[in-house]
Amino acid sequence: MAITRTFSIIKPDATRRNLTGAVTKMLEEAGLRVVASKRIQMTKEQAEGFYGVHRERPFFNDLVGFMISGPVVVQVLEGEDAVKRNRDIMGATNPENADAGTIRKELAESIEANSVHGSDSDENAKIEIDYFFKPEEIVG
Ligand code: PPS
Repeated sequence: MAITRTFSIIKPDATRRNLTGAVTKMLEEAGLRVVASKRIQMTKEQAEGFYGVHRERPFFNDLVGFMISGPVVVQVLEGEDAVKRNRDIMGATNPENADAGTIRKELAESIEANSVHGSDSDENAKIEIDYFFKPEEIVG
């Protein structure tokens, strides 16, 4: 299986509860390596651009408002089949539906405050990594 990269966000509900380390530990234990990481305060424009594909969804404004409600940690993760590996350890969008042992089941608060974002395809991973990181910020 090829070593690939994915993009992750530790969301404001997790940074607020001081769970950056706990989330990262679960990612690492799932076989993912953090090859870039920075804590940022997203701007409204940045969040709207990042979630542009969801612009017509009823929860768009809530999602953007939540994502700028506090700091986030954006990360590039590397590992075998990284996109799938990350989505498996994240668990379902709604923590109520997530499997035991996943980040969202163990740590998330609600469908909005669900602690982590992860790219859903290799193609989107590249787009999302490029949205937040310069190539020289990623050290594999
Ligand atoms: S889909 O259909 O798979 O594209 O959508 P989904 O992955 O379920 O959700 C896309 C992102 O929107 C967030 N989301 C919500 N935010 C606030 N309120 C509600 N009701 C809600 N439903 C979904 C969800 O956490 C996803 O965020 P990311 O950051 O992409 O994980």
